[in-house]
Amino acid sequence: MAIMKREATLLLLLLVLFSVPTVMGHTGGGGGGEDERREERREIFLLQHSKQVVKTEAGEMRVVRGFRIKGVENPMHIGFITMEPKTLFVPQYIDSGLIFFVRRGNAKIGSVYKDELVERELKHGDIYRIPAGSAFYMVNVHDRQNLEIICSIDSTESIGRGPFQSFFIGGGSYPASVLSGFDPRTLATAFNVSSSELKELMTRQQGGPIIYVQDTQDTSRWASIMKLKQQERLEQQKRMGEDDDADQEEQVEEETWTWRKLLTSVLGMEKKVATPNKAVRSPDSYNLYDRQPDFKNDYGWSIALDEDDYTPLSNSGIGVYLVNLSAGSMMAPHVNPTATEYGVVLSGTGSIEVVFPNGTSAMNADVSEGDVFWVPRYFPFCQIASKMGPMEFFGFTTSARKNRPQFLVGASSILQTMSSSELAAAFDVSEERFRNLTNAQRESVILPYKSPSPPKTRKPKESSAKRVPSYIKSFASDMIMGFD
Ligand SMILES: *[C@@H]1O[C@H](CO)[C@@H](O)[C@H](O)[C@H]1NC(C)=O
Ligand SMILES: *[C@@H]1O[C@H](CO)[C@@H](O)[C@H](O)[C@H]1NC(C)=O
Ligand SMILES: *[C@@H]1O[C@H](CO)[C@@H](O)[C@H](O)[C@H]1NC(C)=O
Ligand SMILES: *[C@@H]1O[C@H](CO)[C@@H](O)[C@H](O)[C@H]1NC(C)=O
Repeated sequence: MAIMKREATLLLLLLVLFSVPTVMGHTGGGGGGEDERREERREIFLLQHSKQVVKTEAGEMRVVRGFRIKGVENPMHIGFITMEPKTLFVPQYIDSGLIFFVRRGNAKIGSVYKDELVERELKHGDIYRIPAGSAFYMVNVHDRQNLEIICSIDSTESIGRGPFQSFFIGGGSYPASVLSGFDPRTLATAFNVSSSELKELMTRQQGGPIIYVQDTQDTSRWASIMKLKQQERLEQQKRMGEDDDADQEEQVEEETWTWRKLLTSVLGMEKKVATPNKAVRSPDSYNLYDRQPDFKNDYGWSIALDEDDYTPLSNSGIGVYLVNLSAGSMMAPHVNPTATEYGVVLSGTGSIEVVFPNGTSAMNADVSEGDVFWVPRYFPFCQIASKMGPMEFFGFTTSARKNRPQFLVGASSILQTMSSSELAAAFDVSEERFRNLTNAQRESVILPYKSPSPPKTRKPKESSAKRVPSYIKSFASDMIMGFD
């Protein structure tokens, strides 16, 4: 029974995968300004169509949409935000959870955490989470350097309109503030201001979602909307200070914010800037580059961040990873038994191979900086850095629990941990021969990929279906029956 259920899931998965090229065909025209070479490729595990969702003089945001796999999980989308020096992404909340990764530059992110405005300075390599529905703004504080952010957009809680839906709090003519949807008299009453004062507040902004600001250190017109009273901060601090253990638990709770607080601060038109205070105990950011690699050898290193390392991830159900492969190294063929993986190539070039459960090649694609790939749960895959230089990639997994990739090849792989007599029988070779073959690779996880060109171990694309080793076939099906 259980097996049948899993097979049904697999079937569904494959059906969805079949229909992917059609989906891409429909959305093909929408991207605009895409590399033509890319347009021609129909690699189903490369997410090649990015859509501009915000574009102003001061910056832009593009989104690469993930595919929905029915019955498995909601898609994750990947966002790319670029902001000019001294600019502000106006206060908003979004129907999707976001995890920011600062690719370049420095950001100041203000967000409402338990009714409290918290500002964080983020630098290169920092990870920071904004829960769905939480109001936030983002400032590029630098006066010369652009800010580049890559973020996961988790659509689990989305209302289903587009890749995500923004609700701008600050705004005016453009972007429209969600407040402007209320009857002016209702709003004027709510704000306790005259209708002309209200009009001033609700119509002046025309710069779009990303705007230039005069002084990023001081409060801007829109940032001030979210500033709260210094007094409230101090009280909060006192409360937090008394009660450390409780705070740990509270962090796991879903954060909330209220309109009342925001309206109060608008109403009060606070001019006073609360000095950033490190003592406010809200989740901090986490720097990926400060962390010791979880795995490291001569051929590269990898880092995987889960909820035990960074508590906010437990609320999001998303993990983060970063891998640096030296020139000509490969991540050994592996599979994620519990998570779908989304990756972005940060630097370098290389290739990515993904294998169908039936043991045929699903994709063998060259990738370079900025490419986005995804690998569904259970699908075996590997990444290979070109000989030109190291390849660095980073991404998100759809599980905040420890996602233990299962390595299919290499020392410490499944081939070695499983009993060799059964496996040898499965391959129809003698046990000694099997051991000789599987012990030849001394390295694990990240392997040297030394081969004179053309690569000897790599099969030519057209005949790849026949050349895929049969053990991958049997493992792929074992996997699907072996995990729930
Ligand atoms: C509204 O503003 C007036 C004066 O500006 C003040 O007297 C009154 O108390 C305010 N009402 C509320 C409900 O805040
Ligand atoms: C990645 O590894 C290469 C050496 O293989 C090194 O030169 C490079 O600085 C590393 N990149 C990062 C971001 O650590
Ligand atoms: C393997 O599965 C893929 C995707 O479902 C399909 O396109 C391909 O024809 C299958 N190949 C074989 C040999 O069954
Ligand atoms: C296994 O390796 C050993 C040592 O290299 C060799 O003597 C032996 O003949 C090999 N056996 C098989 C079956 O390949």
